[in-house]
Amino acid sequence: MTKNNIEPVRLMANENPFGPSPKALAGINEQSQNVHCYPDWVPQTLKEKLAAKNQVPPKNIIVSAGSYELINLISRFLVNRDEEILTFDNTFIAYSLSAKRNGRKCVIAHMSGLDCNLENLISLCTNKTKVIFFANPNNPTGTIVTHDSLKNLLETVPDNVLVVVDEAYCEYVTDESYPDSRQLQKDFSNLIILRTFSKIYGLAGLRIGYGIAGEKLVKILAKNQILRSINLLGEKAAEAALDDVEYINHSASYNSKERAYLFNELKQLGFVVNESQANFQYLLFQDNEQKNNVYETLEKDGLMVCDLEIFGQEKSLRITIGQSETNQRIIDCLSQIK
Ligand SMILES: Cc1ncc(COP(=O)(O)O)c(C=O)c1O
Repeated sequence: MTKNNIEPVRLMANENPFGPSPKALAGINEQSQNVHCYPDWVPQTLKEKLAAKNQVPPKNIIVSAGSYELINLISRFLVNRDEEILTFDNTFIAYSLSAKRNGRKCVIAHMSGLDCNLENLISLCTNKTKVIFFANPNNPTGTIVTHDSLKNLLETVPDNVLVVVDEAYCEYVTDESYPDSRQLQKDFSNLIILRTFSKIYGLAGLRIGYGIAGEKLVKILAKNQILRSINLLGEKAAEAALDDVEYINHSASYNSKERAYLFNELKQLGFVVNESQANFQYLLFQDNEQKNNVYETLEKDGLMVCDLEIFGQEKSLRITIGQSETNQRIIDCLSQIK
């Protein structure tokens, strides 16, 4: 409960407002009586299902305890101490954090406005660069890198530079210029794709994600994973969630409709917003005072959004797109200040 006795709505972590699919919940319930048992050494069924879904052989899939585990493994085991990680200044914080935690140098490229402009990365690429990380769509700005730009990056950087594209929000994208990264991965073995069950699949609490990469890289990452890092409930929920295509399609189309609603309404109210391709909206303010005022007004109404200051970004908020009633509440609430 908030100070005003209102049930808070979580709009700060880009979770699916509908929760997991009923099929995933049934999978969890079914397995709940087996939690005294260890999961298998390798989640083979899930791996095979992911391979079929992504039209790649199972040897190109690594299942992980969320994307965080893979980001950490990549920073730690694919980058030597004298090599560098390259990322952007306004992207997902886990890339620079995991570089820091693993004692790896992280070089930061500036974004061009809200876009991950890959030219800015290319200009900072040196013979020390080992891994490039970025999110597509980008968190927190919601912008995308197009297929052509990603292909150009892969054609430009040497093959020993690993390009990690984090597609945590890919299911929400409606822009047709979005990369077919799985196709590109077949031609560029230095491309690593990260996917997660934490967002549209609604399973963030079960910590389950996966990567698609060349066989050699998958082997190195798998060899260095903590033994049995994938928990039984996460594994079985993910298997069941993959069968509920209808639920995912519904979540994506609902999000796209609500995203348009929020974008148009926020724009009409005079906020600086951009056309997000994800399940959140990014708001940029003239100063921190204005941002704090909006944050506090929403908070009083139980609408808990993300103040990006926690990630070192000033003058900006990120609001997860919720269910229709929540989005209307956001607009009603903000109408009072504008
Ligand atoms: C771009 C991006 N990648 C990965 C994650 C985290 O994924 P996971 O829960 O699979 O570790 C997030 C969570 O906010 C994210 O925004």
